[in-house]
Amino acid sequence: MIYIVLLISLFIQIVSLQTCSNLERGIDRPGQWYVHLLSTTSAGACCALCDSETQCKSWTFFSAPSILAAGCYLKAFVPPINGSSNCGQTCASGVKDSTLVLQGPCAFPGGAYELAVDRPGATYVHLTSIRTHPKCCAMCQMEGNKCQSWTFVRDGAPNRAGGCFLKTQVAPISNTPCVPCTSGKK
Ligand SMILES: *[C@@H]1O[C@H](CO)[C@@H](O)[C@H](O)[C@H]1NC(C)=O
Repeated sequence: MIYIVLLISLFIQIVSLQTCSNLERGIDRPGQWYVHLLSTTSAGACCALCDSETQCKSWTFFSAPSILAAGCYLKAFVPPINGSSNCGQTCASGVKDSTLVLQGPCAFPGGAYELAVDRPGATYVHLTSIRTHPKCCAMCQMEGNKCQSWTFVRDGAPNRAGGCFLKTQVAPISNTPCVPCTSGKK
């Protein structure tokens, strides 16, 4: 009996320790889900579930306990981010890493990258899970018409938040050089 309890608690610990590197708090990707799992109670578990499903390309998790729509939504597509969603800490989303295809303008080498260029402003979402500029570029491509340009800031840049900034317009290039920045247009 004790062994069973220990095994179960170990399993629960492993599940809760599982972290998905592409987890984005406060991001909603509405619609296009193929399954809604009410029993999934954490964003990490929802992310892990998507990783283990071949057909799953992205997911959104809602934690608000009073809402019937709470739970884990697995998606076979990558719906665009709702940039005006204010779900804050009650939601999280993620895109399976292998879904971000680095082709066309996002191919490397040969991508149409603006190295050390900053395009400030017009940001509708800031994704901290994106760790490279080709992936930031690929994310902008996947967002459809909503994303017109992007700037990626390397981690550790002084006085700057790192990550991928997606923009609703072709934001003008800044006159101030930004060594940790890379930008691009759609
Ligand atoms: C996006 O979020 C806003 C604010 O919560 C909401 O009113 C709107 O319906 C959402 N759009 C979609 C497509 O879900």
